[in-house]
Amino acid sequence: MDRLDFDNAPVAGYLPIALVVPWSSWPDGDIGAGWTMILTAPLRETEWDMIRAFVRRTDRDDLRLRFGQWLDFQNDAILRRFFDIDGKIGELVCTLDEAGDISGILHRALTSPCEAEIALIVRSDLKRTGIGRNLLRVAVARAAQQNLKALRATILRENNAMLRLARKVGAVAREPSGFSVEVEFDLRSKTGASPSPNSPQIPGRLGEAAPA
Ligand SMILES: CC(C)(COP(=O)(O)OP(=O)(O)OC[C@H]1O[C@@H](n2cnc3c(N)ncnc32)[C@H](O)[C@@H]1OP(=O)(O)O)[C@@H](O)C(=O)NCCC(=O)NCCS
Repeated sequence: MDRLDFDNAPVAGYLPIALVVPWSSWPDGDIGAGWTMILTAPLRETEWDMIRAFVRRTDRDDLRLRFGQWLDFQNDAILRRFFDIDGKIGELVCTLDEAGDISGILHRALTSPCEAEIALIVRSDLKRTGIGRNLLRVAVARAAQQNLKALRATILRENNAMLRLARKVGAVAREPSGFSVEVEFDLRSKTGASPSPNSPQIPGRLGEAAPA
């Protein structure tokens, strides 16, 4: 499959539900290849259905690498706990394939007014087609636009694919700790130092599931 090209995608403002489009027109009712959907409000049932379909097409080991543990996503309560967002601190950036199905998901949660934690996963049949890189680029551009100072990701030390990808997009690795290593995207050269007035103010941690 060809690489999807999001390089020139404009970054949407901080809206309840925003769409980043890589080309100028928005065909009515049509969501297809190249679209990036940004969800910043609690998910609706149609969006949960899209996430269920994404998980069905994703290998268990890829899900383990994303969440750092084995989880049974056939169990809907578990799926909702681990993919849900609190609209005040969390958001999902989703890329869509030609059919309008989710091809990759990046989860962001603010840990302070200026910093956020991110984690991402690409649908297993579409790995190595540039989706992970595009998700990270959108996340970095969007965070810089919102005047965040840093994005961090906690990555299992065994996860060479993600470590290489993070380095390629400009992250610096911190000291490893146990089975994981934290990487940081320093956005200070891209933004001012103070938080955007649009940035939600409630701190949280991405590794923790949303309250059941
Ligand atoms: C890690 C992951 C997100 C990468 O996404 P992806 O869309 O496959 O990656 P891309 O196609 O954008 O690759 C970009 C670069 O990352 C690196 N990379 C990606 N997959 C790699 C692999 N399997 N082995 C080595 N390097 C890899 C390469 O440098 C690659 O550049 P190249 O193709 O020019 O060599 C994806 O493999 C995944 O979802 N893994 C399971 C979940 C996970 O590990 N999440 C991370 C938790 S923070």
